[in-house]
Amino acid sequence: MPATTTFADKPTLLGAKVLLRPVRPEEDLPMLRVMLNDPDVLRYTSDAYTPVAPAWDEAMERRITDWYTTRNDQPDRLDLIVVDRATGRGVGEVVLNEWDEPNRACNLRIALGPDGRDRGLGTEAVRLLTDHALRALGLNRVSLSVYAFNERGRRAYEKAGFQVEGVRRQVLRWGDEWIDDIDMAALADHWT
Ligand SMILES: CC(C)(COP(=O)(O)OP(=O)(O)OC[C@H]1O[C@@H](n2cnc3c(N)ncnc32)[C@H](O)[C@@H]1OP(=O)(O)O)[C@@H](O)C(=O)NCCC(=O)NCCS
Repeated sequence: MPATTTFADKPTLLGAKVLLRPVRPEEDLPMLRVMLNDPDVLRYTSDAYTPVAPAWDEAMERRITDWYTTRNDQPDRLDLIVVDRATGRGVGEVVLNEWDEPNRACNLRIALGPDGRDRGLGTEAVRLLTDHALRALGLNRVSLSVYAFNERGRRAYEKAGFQVEGVRRQVLRWGDEWIDDIDMAALADHWT
């Protein structure tokens, strides 16, 4: 394990299809606004039924701008923009958060907007950032959860090297349906 594991450094990570880099608010905010209003992102990342995007008022704009202009100052989490190398454009974000320092563990989350999906970018972004967490930062465990109705997400995580650990049943009420939440993780000693 490195002597000082820290999330304060904001690296740029290069893959074949994607580059992960720190947030550049002015450049990235237009893409992030589209991503946050996208029906798939709302469906698969909301913790409550959100069939349509909430109204985008001034307060929301301020909240989002404040959020993304402060991501690079956070010492306990790592927020990176996923850039499609084919176009040089940002298509979404991938994040390590919920750092559990004594147990060398954290959570991973990802959301890609409509321009970034279904071309293998998500799988590679998850793999790159997990590799950074387990090898460069010396963490032992990266975990995440994915709603059972998000089959694309689950498949992408499996391809990236995550394994299912369990199912929390009926976690989300989506319209008139109950949706399970699947817990997955990648561990350092199984990581290749
Ligand atoms: C989930 C997400 C990160 C995946 O990234 P992606 O770049 O779109 O996915 P990839 O192209 O890398 O891989 C998707 C895989 O799922 C498969 N897939 C797509 N739709 C599927 C479906 N309905 N059922 C089963 N598999 C499906 C694809 O065929 C592909 O697998 P393959 O390479 O074996 O053919 C991205 O789609 C996203 O951000 N979606 C919206 C928000 C979201 O779901 N975030 C995650 C919340 S846990």
